[in-house]
Amino acid sequence: MHTQIPAHFRKLRSFVRRDGRLTTAQERARVALWPHVGLKLQDGQANFDTIFGREAPRFLEIGFGSGQSLLALAEAQQDSDFIGIETHKPGIGALCLGIEVKSLSNLRIYYDDAVEILKNCIPDASLTGVQIFFPDPWQKRRHHARRIVQADFVQLVITKLKPAGTLHLATDWEDYAKHMMRVISNVQGIENIFGDGQYAARSPYRPILTKFERRAEREGRGVWELQLRKL
Ligand SMILES: C[S@@+](CC[C@H](N)C(=O)[O-])C[C@H]1O[C@@H](n2cnc3c(N)ncnc32)[C@H](O)[C@@H]1O
Repeated sequence: MHTQIPAHFRKLRSFVRRDGRLTTAQERARVALWPHVGLKLQDGQANFDTIFGREAPRFLEIGFGSGQSLLALAEAQQDSDFIGIETHKPGIGALCLGIEVKSLSNLRIYYDDAVEILKNCIPDASLTGVQIFFPDPWQKRRHHARRIVQADFVQLVITKLKPAGTLHLATDWEDYAKHMMRVISNVQGIENIFGDGQYAARSPYRPILTKFERRAEREGRGVWELQLRKL
């Protein structure tokens, strides 16, 4: 018998699947590159040394959007490997196109929910850094539980970081910044690099303004960053 799960028992997700349109170039690049750069949830625990063919510092970006920051970092730091996770298909196409244009071999992509990928695919203590830039703010109070930065999520990220590995967060919504600060202040096993309760200075590690950061600038909002280190 097939039992329907009542709506209020369904898992709250930090994203809504939307079928956005890819440009012709993005779709062509996505189809051509996916066999080389695409990773799948169904493949389970990943062996990144085998996937990248080397041992190297590894960075993960969750919700990379159109992939501007990830692309710039992967190009600037070719001695490191980068993994991106995104649920929005046009972003996958845009990043594939960027990888093709820049001929990068140090970037792989998951097209799925980051929570599931972290739980099922990323080995414990395997990442040098995790970054989440401008996550969906879910501004209405009744939607706050959908924000990706929550205590259990941060705890999950910590298990995936190497000792002294970093978690880097940025948001253009003050209320979400305060929420992030509250969450990380109550999680064990991580320290705020800039001191308790302190936001980080704008990091030169984020080499370019992403689409969402540019929009925040246009709309006159500030940017709050947090940089945390696994103890
Ligand atoms: C506001 S956008 C920011 C994109 C990009 N970081 C930037 O700064 O331009 C947030 C992105 O996170 C993605 N996202 C939200 N929840 C996610 C999840 N659980 N797993 C993977 N991607 C997610 C959304 O699809 C969206 O593209």
